[in-house]
Amino acid sequence: MKAIQLTAAGVDSLRPVDLPEPEARRGEVLVRLRAAALNYFDVAVATGRFPGARYPLIPVADGAGEVAALGDGVEGWAVGDKVVPHFMPHWMGGPIAPQHVAALRGLTLPGSLADYVAVPAASLVAMPEHLDFVQGATLPIAATTAWNAVRSASLRPGSVAVLLGTGGVSLFALQFAKASGATVILASSSARKLERAQQLGADHLINYLDTPEWDREVLSLTQGRGADLVVETVGGATFARSLNAAAMGGTVFTVGFVSGMAASIDLMPIIVKALHVVGNNTGSVADFGEAVRAVAAHRIVPVIDRVFGMAEAGSAYDHLGAGGQHVGKVAIAHA
Ligand SMILES: NC(=O)c1ccc[n+]([C@@H]2O[C@H](COP(=O)([O-])OP(=O)(O)OC[C@H]3O[C@@H](n4cnc5c(N)ncnc54)[C@H](OP(=O)(O)O)[C@@H]3O)[C@@H](O)[C@H]2O)c1
Repeated sequence: MKAIQLTAAGVDSLRPVDLPEPEARRGEVLVRLRAAALNYFDVAVATGRFPGARYPLIPVADGAGEVAALGDGVEGWAVGDKVVPHFMPHWMGGPIAPQHVAALRGLTLPGSLADYVAVPAASLVAMPEHLDFVQGATLPIAATTAWNAVRSASLRPGSVAVLLGTGGVSLFALQFAKASGATVILASSSARKLERAQQLGADHLINYLDTPEWDREVLSLTQGRGADLVVETVGGATFARSLNAAAMGGTVFTVGFVSGMAASIDLMPIIVKALHVVGNNTGSVADFGEAVRAVAAHRIVPVIDRVFGMAEAGSAYDHLGAGGQHVGKVAIAHA
């Protein structure tokens, strides 16, 4: 089969290769992949900033395709079914454990830049009927994380959510938050991106370059109350302001590190406001299944910034990795 391997740290170490087609072992399904979608995780893996890589590896966690063959003992799937394999295929549900973090598609398990992949049947979720393969491929990491964020604060009409940027996680969080009836305040770096967020339903827009003290703006927009949920997708540069922007008893859902993993913070907002600072590591297959049901129920269409071909995989990484260029998801379609 045709595949692309990452042979060393560095996007220029992506190489087209011919590999033997994998076989579906007992309990596994062979998936003919049709599309892949990038996450910041993949950029971190490709640039050697995510621990655990052993080269060569087939990169890109997220993908979608069709069932091509069933291993022994597999029930509930048929050849031709449109499916999305989860990024953390050994985490079925319940609390996270070390073995779940050790098995990640696109890092320690084969990823989506290949014609075929064999995955546990139990890690598959049926692709929503209203989506195509590129859209389906965007779901595992970003939609699951955004779903867990929205659930962590039990968003409902009257709730306020603050979202940072217009990347993949933030825009799924925007779509889920609006489906929950919440008011959304979104901060981004340009008028063009803010306009896109408004089209998707964002209620209040802040340009964080023009208004670096965006936390104060959140307090002003909420009459001093603050946000019930801040989805912290950025990291070191914004964490302290996210704490300031949260309401009493609010949740700062901590997932991202695009601006770095270290933050200097004042503990008092956490203590005085009794904040919930909640960490998250994507989510289980059960979480993914719930997120996809919500996508199907609300006919949510993932926001795709750009689709690259397999031969342009390096350019896709560069486009996402540059930061500031994309809105939503960057995808790679198989031929
Ligand atoms: N722990 C988990 O469960 C989990 C799961 C998924 C993702 N993540 C992490 O979450 C982060 C976001 O992931 P992603 O895939 O959505 O990334 P992405 O698509 O690359 O989006 C990142 C966005 O961050 C925004 N940004 C950068 N600096 C900012 C700042 N100072 N203030 C506000 N926004 C800023 C930019 O938005 P604008 O261009 O609009 O300004 C950019 O588009 C990454 O670090 C990723 O690794 C973690």
